[in-house]
Amino acid sequence: MARKTAATPKSVTQPAGKAYTAPGITVYFDGKRCIHFRACVHGLPAVFDPDRKPWIKPDEATLRQLIEVVRRCPSGALHYVLDNGPAEKPEPTTVEPRPNGPLFLRGALRIATRRGVVEDTRAALCRCGASQNKPFCDDSHDDCGFRAAGTTTINPWGKK
Ligand code: SF4
Ligand code: FES
Repeated sequence: MARKTAATPKSVTQPAGKAYTAPGITVYFDGKRCIHFRACVHGLPAVFDPDRKPWIKPDEATLRQLIEVVRRCPSGALHYVLDNGPAEKPEPTTVEPRPNGPLFLRGALRIATRRGVVEDTRAALCRCGASQNKPFCDDSHDDCGFRAAGTTTINPWGKK
């Protein structure tokens, strides 16, 4: 009898979510991955304004500013693609348990999900067990009263 071999999981490398374009750059926002950490809103309020439609206006900042602030997004909800430039380079791999919240990961990540292996540079993974978007955090830890100590912050923007 032929033995069944496990199928190679498909990789998802394209940024997911809605695209917001400006000359030279497209910013992608995946609402399912956003944990309302607000690094974007605090970093570039003229670009990221949740009270406005569209809430992202990438032409309100320089490419350099956009790249820097998008990379602060700990959950991977925000990504950018340059028209004529390199893709986001992964940082050294780090794992950071957040107080009463998810695990923040950075690095060259390959995350097993129901839709395949997601290749990413940033992610917030659920550690409370209540997320409806596992393995990603969806902020349900606030509603379920999850309590667990965090650690020293690795990411300088990792304050909430
Ligand atoms: S930085 Fe990322 S996770 Fe935080 S509010 Fe902005 S998009 Fe959401
Ligand atoms: S840690 Fe955020 S939903 Fe579980």
